[in-house]
Amino acid sequence: MKQLIEALKKSRRTAALTGAGISTLCGIPDFRGPQGLYAQPDAERIFDIDWFDRDPSIYYRGCRELVYGLKDRSPGPVHKALKHLEDIGGLDGIATQNIDMLHQKAGSSTVWEVHGSPLLHHCRNCGRAATFDEVCAMLDGKEAAFVPRCPVCGAAFKPDITFFGEALPEKAFAEAQALAIRAEVMLALGTSLTVFPAAGLPRLTLQGGGKLFIVNAQPTPLDRFAVRRYPDLAEFAEAVLSLRQA
Ligand code: APR
Ligand code: ZN
Repeated sequence: MKQLIEALKKSRRTAALTGAGISTLCGIPDFRGPQGLYAQPDAERIFDIDWFDRDPSIYYRGCRELVYGLKDRSPGPVHKALKHLEDIGGLDGIATQNIDMLHQKAGSSTVWEVHGSPLLHHCRNCGRAATFDEVCAMLDGKEAAFVPRCPVCGAAFKPDITFFGEALPEKAFAEAQALAIRAEVMLALGTSLTVFPAAGLPRLTLQGGGKLFIVNAQPTPLDRFAVRRYPDLAEFAEAVLSLRQA
């Protein structure tokens, strides 16, 4: 990690791109890792907008724990390490693909959720909003496939998570691009870097002459452009948490 830590100390503008791998340390499964969500049959339907409109219970059954159990989840070592890095002036901001809201829970102040978040849900028909807590209350005590519905028109509530087939939230993605373009160092943490356009963010840093460090157990398509890929996120978190001054 020495090379990564040295680069962090020297970098005047550092950005992080995080993925589901950092939340496996909090007990939340990732998607494509060995125990990933996508190991289950038909799992790719869970976050697919066409399947949602056909049968919203596919999402609600698939995410009952993953999303609606988030109240009981706390930030893990990498969330805390990135908060610490920000506190010592070593991090400009985070672009996250995660929808677990754990960076905010860890106190990070600049977090761009490029795949949205379940903080708000909207009725698929009339657009009426419902908060995460309101939807959790509607699900309380109901069976796994229960679908929370709009009290006005009866259509299903959908989380403001970017499903496959939907466009990314414009502002969050534009801010994430700006962060990547001006970064001297980009940290890609716990992401397989396989889902675009988010996976294209580190390329913006490289195109601007910045450096890419990857911390991920499995190989990624950007490994050959990185200074290095380290396998262990817990080791990364420990090294950053022991930094006094960036
Ligand atoms: N240490 C190091 N790496 C880890 C650890 C760990 N403890 N746990 C998991 N990983 C790595 C896995 O090896 C995997 O390569 O994290 C990576 C997670 O990759 P994905 O599961 O593909 O998650 P992510 O890259 O965030 O997926 C991107 O795909 O399904 C969509 O919208 C969803 O945001 C998600 C997007
Ligand atoms: Zn409605």
